[in-house]
Amino acid sequence: MAYIEVKDLVRVYRMGDVEVRALRGLNMSVREGELISVMGPSGSGKTTLLNILGGLDRSTAGEAKVGDVDVTFLDRRQLVMYRRRVVGHIFQTLNLVPTLSAAENIALPMIVNQVPKRDRQSRIDELLETVQLTDRRKHKPDELSGGEQQRVAIAAALANDPPIILADEPTGELDSETSQVIVDFLVQINKKYNKTTILVTHNPIVAAATERILRIDDGVIKAAYTPAELESGAEGRTVSYVDQMRQRIKKLNAELKDLDEKFRKGAVTGDEYVEERLRLKAAIRGLEDEVHRHGG
Ligand SMILES: Nc1ncnc2c1ncn2[C@@H]1O[C@H](COP(=O)(O)OP(=O)(O)OP(=O)(O)O)[C@@H](O)[C@H]1O
Ligand SMILES: [Mg+2]
Repeated sequence: MAYIEVKDLVRVYRMGDVEVRALRGLNMSVREGELISVMGPSGSGKTTLLNILGGLDRSTAGEAKVGDVDVTFLDRRQLVMYRRRVVGHIFQTLNLVPTLSAAENIALPMIVNQVPKRDRQSRIDELLETVQLTDRRKHKPDELSGGEQQRVAIAAALANDPPIILADEPTGELDSETSQVIVDFLVQINKKYNKTTILVTHNPIVAAATERILRIDDGVIKAAYTPAELESGAEGRTVSYVDQMRQRIKKLNAELKDLDEKFRKGAVTGDEYVEERLRLKAAIRGLEDEVHRHGG
């Protein structure tokens, strides 16, 4: 069943005489509990789409149904309630309150929702456990790594148990290994709590961890594919050199994971493990450098 159903969504920004058509009649639907990614060039309308679905921006025309409400019909007050109860929004730039600890940042959305203190406490403990930061609860954002800050942001987004999670390039500022960790958490949370999740990303490796990938271009969804189709280039686009390298990086990372698993099970000796791991790491680093050289 479609949980999110967007029809002919239009968003026009007017800046003086200039009109920017950020969304030009966008259609998409997302099943309940599904985890999808949205990929597309800069300026194609990804953030605009997420902000409308998240109740942070208004559409110019069209429909955007989330559950049984159409967000385009909500008035200001209803939008405030919608933002507090229905969506958990995770942003690219870390948006934690710098003066508050990890636990306090997670408490904040619950305080806004008037959750009693004793319920907040147990929820904070549970969420810190989920993102594996129990031992960092008293740390302020600048006392946490980028990846840890993003995990706190994920926990804060989950605080009020919203049915949908919107993540706008949550790994944008993180290195590839840390990105993988963040995506693994999002996948795990999607499965464990059945959160319908939309993940915006530029990173094909991140997108490959989702069930379905939507390509947005010029404010409309142009295509949808599975991770396997994305990888084989079956979406009809010729896969660029950079994309090919990214796919190889992804394969090597999978090999790395397998290797770690084999070592844990005792299927390879310590020496073999170290040697093979160094080889894979060096190959990945070489490819990543190449991607960077080509502006990826
Ligand atoms: N508040 C605004 N006022 C005017 N124009 C805007 C506004 N927000 C976005 N736009 C324009 O709408 C278009 C889509 O922007 P949007 O932020 O949705 O792109 P995006 O796909 O998220 O890009 P990126 O990958 O760079 O984050 C862009 O041309 C942008 O300049
Ligand atoms: Mg954006």
